[in-house]
Amino acid sequence: MSTALRIQQLNKHFANGKHALRDINLTVQRGEMVALIGASGSGKSTLLRHVAGLVVADGASDSLIEVDGRCVQQGGRIHRDIRQVRAQVGFVFQQFNLVDRLPVLMNVLVGLLHRTPRWRGWLRLFRPHERALALEALARVGIADCHAQRASTLSGGQQQRAAIARTLVQGAKVVLADEPIASLDPESSRKVMDILARINREDGSTVIVSLHQVDVAIKYCPRVVALHQGRVVYDGPSAALTPGLLRELYGVQADEILTGANPLPSAAAPAVSPVAGWMPPLAQAA
Ligand SMILES: Nc1ncnc2c1ncn2[C@@H]1O[C@H](COP(=O)(O)OP(=O)(O)O)[C@@H](O)[C@H]1O
Ligand SMILES: [Mg+2]
Repeated sequence: MSTALRIQQLNKHFANGKHALRDINLTVQRGEMVALIGASGSGKSTLLRHVAGLVVADGASDSLIEVDGRCVQQGGRIHRDIRQVRAQVGFVFQQFNLVDRLPVLMNVLVGLLHRTPRWRGWLRLFRPHERALALEALARVGIADCHAQRASTLSGGQQQRAAIARTLVQGAKVVLADEPIASLDPESSRKVMDILARINREDGSTVIVSLHQVDVAIKYCPRVVALHQGRVVYDGPSAALTPGLLRELYGVQADEILTGANPLPSAAAPAVSPVAGWMPPLAQAA
């Protein structure tokens, strides 16, 4: 296996002095599906934004972030070839980040802009085969029939599926999803997680998904990285994450990630074997 993501010695202080990430070292192999869990404020978004090159690490440090062997940033400086790296990285946001007034198909075609000559992008002159690619991506996420609608007319779950279709069209090898289901109802959440798992399985894309709730992480991701106050406090099989261990790691904050405020419908077949007896102890512990 080769490395999809390498993070070394990552530290981040924000301008207000907040030490949001502390000595993060993390390696993810190609084709993995990894959950990034932690209470709100633990640093999940900040970490993913560093990987996408949207935020720079502390200056004058030994930090290094590489995606697919290419440097994103080093020592607090974004690499000069960042555009090439960004083309490999798809970002899925909690709030979807679609252009509301544009049709869904056009929103998905935005995923192609990094390889479309600028003037064609500006003039929105996408070619027929590019439109076909976007329609195919929309079909894969199950919303091809919405392609002509304005993005704003879609439900939250459909908008998030369109955002995932955009990463498909982009041809992203690494998909970073930052709490993609936090704003969705349980059924839409299940669909979005199923789609991310399918992209991982069928396309071999590396998926790193931050999640607020541990039950969803365990259901879909064989590996969990747990953040607490900017530090990695656990990195290992999701199956080994017991409520007891989570309480050890998080103390009173454990309840925030143990109680599934947004539990998925139980009808979905788990992609990963859940821990035997996981749900009942959770319910008792709550
Ligand atoms: N731009 C910023 N300026 C100052 N502090 C920030 C900024 N962004 C995030 N933080 C702080 O960094 C910490 C981690 O935030 P974040 O990565 O958003 O956590 P999470 O995504 O796990 O909820 C929090 O304490 C948050 O308040
Ligand atoms: Mg966040």
